[in-house]
Amino acid sequence: MDCYPNRKDEGMATTREEEVLGALKKIIDPDLGKDIVTLGFVKELKIDGGRVGFRVELTTPACPVKDRFKRQAEELVGALPWVSETAVEMTAQVRSSREKQSGDLLPGVKNVIAVASGKGGVGKSTTAVNLALALAVSGAKVGILDADIYGPSLPRMLDLHSMPEYKEGNKIPPHVAYGVKAMSMGFFMPEDQPMIWRGPMVGSAVEQLLRDVDWGELDYLVIDLPPGTGDAQLTLTQKVPLTGAVIVSTPQDVALADVRKGIAMFKKVNVPILGIVENMAYYLCPDCGHRAEIFSNGGARREAERAGIFFLGEIPLDEAIRSHADSGAPIVVAEPDHPQSEAYRDMAARVAARIATLNHKAAKFPKIVMG
Ligand SMILES: Nc1ncnc2c1ncn2[C@@H]1O[C@H](COP(=O)(O)OP(=O)(O)O)[C@@H](O)[C@H]1O
Ligand SMILES: [Mg+2]
Repeated sequence: MDCYPNRKDEGMATTREEEVLGALKKIIDPDLGKDIVTLGFVKELKIDGGRVGFRVELTTPACPVKDRFKRQAEELVGALPWVSETAVEMTAQVRSSREKQSGDLLPGVKNVIAVASGKGGVGKSTTAVNLALALAVSGAKVGILDADIYGPSLPRMLDLHSMPEYKEGNKIPPHVAYGVKAMSMGFFMPEDQPMIWRGPMVGSAVEQLLRDVDWGELDYLVIDLPPGTGDAQLTLTQKVPLTGAVIVSTPQDVALADVRKGIAMFKKVNVPILGIVENMAYYLCPDCGHRAEIFSNGGARREAERAGIFFLGEIPLDEAIRSHADSGAPIVVAEPDHPQSEAYRDMAARVAARIATLNHKAAKFPKIVMG
């Protein structure tokens, strides 16, 4: 392959730096549709004789094409005739979806992801917690807020049962589990006593968990919303500056009005839908590994495509997911090599890529602030 034929002979002065960047321009980010040089991902290029070193800074550590980019960068630069050694470092700097405003409830949080569902019991909390953990495993700073105050599940799923200690007048430190900051109304109330909430109380309770908790600096805050798409959810989406929503659905209710209502609700308040996750998509027999399509499979994908919504992936009904969630160590951390852990990591990578794309598009048209 002779990509750079005699340029110098033709009088086109090409520096070695330009040659390296020219080679790296062949790497296209599939989500952003541009090459990594134009996107400004290539940093600290150093050339010392035949030795070339640089850093590729991605917009999320959960980037689905991270390994491919690294391999391509090494191959393309290594193919330059004068290069003897290529050192590529991959790093990430998550960009923020939010402009800082005074009175911001979450000043240090770059992106807020709401996990929603049309009804309860579809696996919203299980998806939210495994999503948060998968993002953290990739190297991101992550928090999870259990806003489902009717049925908090974080205490059980992360085995956190004590009330956080704090002094009156100070912010409440969140619990930390597997590197993720976690907060739930369930930490403050006895688990066997159901709370009775009215719509407006839900909003203010959740607002407190955002404002009065010391979330610190986070790349992603995942919010497990209460099920349904009523007033309480609507208020919440208006109080919290959401980057986008992930909708969890099971195959049998995916085409139902519930999901459509959820989509319509987020559209109404201008919250982007990051995509749909199909949970319990099929049944995986724990003994023989047989895949049983209990409900006609592929419904969520079809519904998503019909509605012009991104499909984030399918998670099967797998006993291992339930037992790990019930024992306080979700599958992503308990059994990282399990195929379902991989499925959650893939889903998290798609969510992160969707956010990076949205933030990139938003950054292209910066808001003009008038003096
Ligand atoms: N993919 C799955 N495979 C097996 N069990 C699951 C799966 N997703 C959720 N579950 C189980 O289903 C029950 C309901 O899930 P949960 O996440 O609490 O739902 P929601 O938050 O929507 O009410 C829990 O016992 C959970 O462990
Ligand atoms: Mg739940």
